Amino acid sequence: MSSKMSNDDNQHLSVKSSVIFFVFGGVVVACLFSAMSRVVTVLEGGTQSHQVGTTLSPPTTESKAVGVMGDLEHWPGMDYHGMRDWPVTVRNKPLLRPDLKGEVLAALHQALVAKVHGKNEKAHKLFQHALALDPNYADALNEYGEFLEEEDILRADHLYTCALLNNASHVRALINLRRTSIIVEEIDQSILMRIDNKRNDFLKVPAHSRALQRAQQEMYYQHVYHTTAIEGNTLSLEQMRSIIETGMAVTGKSILEHNEIIGMSSALQYINNTLMGRFGDISVRDILEIHRRVLGHVDPLEAGQIRATQVFVGSHVPPPPSDVELLLEEFVEWLKSDEANAMHPVQFAALAHYKLVYIHPFLDGNGRTSRLLMNLILMRAGYPPIIVKVGQRHEYYEAIKKGNVGDIRPFIRFIARCTENMLDALLWLTTESSSYALPELIGNSYEKIAESIPAY
Ligand SMILES: *[C@@H]1O[C@H](CO)[C@@H](O)[C@H](O)[C@H]1NC(C)=O
Ligand SMILES: *[C@@H]1O[C@H](CO)[C@@H](O)[C@H](O)[C@H]1NC(C)=O
Ligand SMILES: [Mg+2]
Repeated sequence: MSSKMSNDDNQHLSVKSSVIFFVFGGVVVACLFSAMSRVVTVLEGGTQSHQVGTTLSPPTTESKAVGVMGDLEHWPGMDYHGMRDWPVTVRNKPLLRPDLKGEVLAALHQALVAKVHGKNEKAHKLFQHALALDPNYADALNEYGEFLEEEDILRADHLYTCALLNNASHVRALINLRRTSIIVEEIDQSILMRIDNKRNDFLKVPAHSRALQRAQQEMYYQHVYHTTAIEGNTLSLEQMRSIIETGMAVTGKSILEHNEIIGMSSALQYINNTLMGRFGDISVRDILEIHRRVLGHVDPLEAGQIRATQVFVGSHVPPPPSDVELLLEEFVEWLKSDEANAMHPVQFAALAHYKLVYIHPFLDGNGRTSRLLMNLILMRAGYPPIIVKVGQRHEYYEAIKKGNVGDIRPFIRFIARCTENMLDALLWLTTESSSYALPELIGNSYEKIAESIPAY
């Protein structure tokens, strides 16, 4: 066994995790610790299938290769919140160029020296330099996490997770993660509770309230605007509003951009008027129908069709086209599973979004379709549809990428924040007592933000 961890240590950790599990008792905590126990199990060379609360399988004498995570298809962050049986194509990690190894080690060493001397700015830069050269370096990930933990425990917790994803035998990262994950879980839960309180306030606003109708109308335009702008559409909010209201074209803008707006608007109406009014599960056909509207005016031949070719999305290689149909079937099975329905709706909606963009069933329009599906799930649970602002594009994609390397929690957190922003905006617009501060979604110069981002 390559790990230096003794069997006693393992048992100690596993007993502790059971104790923690019983103290905190939540399903979500259970999932995470089931994942953590699995890491320990793997360290012991045992099997992966392992339930929380059961004892760990005894270590086998045969040693298991280091880098277990490389051939492990289920990672802690992925295991969390129903990602357990999710197929993950593990991409070969780019290997560090041998001539850079020395520089990485030196940067980490200097970072630690700077840290000891209280030169925090310098330490930050050096840690980042080391990780820019070698993003998979477990020691640097763990050390940077320890350095950040006091000021940003969420980020530290993510870094420990990444360290373990790269080296499942990293004892210090495991111990650190055991400590932070409990606190982080409490933070995440308290944010969801705050969101639910706001949602309850929002549900008290009478449906016929003029203010509410105006707010919803406004958010409808904002939604069409942001969800298309994020994909590179250059029409401004005002131009887009005018196209929807008057059906007239805007001079100097392409037909394609107009058609994206018309498609988005028709998809939103389909969701609002058809899918929202219907009971029952979401089917593959519903997803294709949403997409048929999103892309129907732009690319009628691809609209509503599963892609027939391989696509590449930055560093993410979605599943081959031959797998997509089956993956979609499994996806809708998951949508109606007890596991999915036991989740908090914000977590469920975020994961549904993540999984659909991961499969990437279409040639184009995957992001828009996934955001619509996410909103359908939220609306069915009594939450307003949310907006990912074009100005958040970078943060949004970064969170998705963190999901792709094995930690889905940052993405769920991001979607939770969007949900809270939307509730803040709607409550601000619809309640007399302005006990809520001016929300982020209002009074923002969207157009300026959109203009600063080059179209592609
Ligand atoms: C993983 O971390 C442990 C320390 O916890 C270390 O002994 C081992 O060499 C590391 N493995 C790799 C492949 O870096
Ligand atoms: C959404 O549906 C409701 C109820 O069916 C309807 O009153 C409202 O006008 C619809 N909104 C849009 C934008 O279609
Ligand atoms: Mg696109």
